[in-house]
Amino acid sequence: MKFFVDTAEFDAIAELHELGMVDGVTTNPSLIKKSGRDILDVTKQICDLVDGPVSAEVTATDADTMISEGRKLAGIAENIAVKVPLTWDGLKACKVLSDDGHMVNVTLCFSANQALLAAKAGATFISPFIGRIDDIGLDGMELIEDIRTVYDNYGFETQILAASIRSVNHVLDCARIGADVMTAPPAVIKSLVNHPLTDKGLATFLADIDAAGIKIL
Ligand code: G3P
Repeated sequence: MKFFVDTAEFDAIAELHELGMVDGVTTNPSLIKKSGRDILDVTKQICDLVDGPVSAEVTATDADTMISEGRKLAGIAENIAVKVPLTWDGLKACKVLSDDGHMVNVTLCFSANQALLAAKAGATFISPFIGRIDDIGLDGMELIEDIRTVYDNYGFETQILAASIRSVNHVLDCARIGADVMTAPPAVIKSLVNHPLTDKGLATFLADIDAAGIKIL
């Protein structure tokens, strides 16, 4: 499963990139707002660092303006994935931008039928929002399972990009189901390393190193 980082904070991306943990980046208007940066500047800076797809979202709601914005965003770098919302206008923009040869990430997906439409419109990525489905008392992971089944039934190549990932369990469940990509905030990715038995075991080893005076260098 590929790891995308869901942030527009350049330093946080750079830190994980150095560890080889960044297969791509996703941003959205809320993340751009949080970063306090200009969308074009920060997106270019991220694209210069990261080789994989970098999602940048359009701001318009009508297809023609989405297409113009998408073409401008795609002009920033080869690895831009233009992000469009899952509306009819977004799907129309998806079709045109995909036909242009650009990567397109169709976002705000909350049903497998929506994911089916996005695949038929030529989306490179579909972004189902797991955490936001959990937030309303439903099971976001069921949606990942359903989309996996539907796409596999018909051989769609659109990649399932599990988004709105909030916990380590979300990451594991996505990997079990076979999501192609998961995008998570840096804090969630960093927390994947944590395990109390690792901490406990290391404390014992360190005590024994100290007691025995073990030295390597
Ligand atoms: O990639 C979409 C993601 O940023 C949404 O996450 O936590 O705002 O639901 P969240």
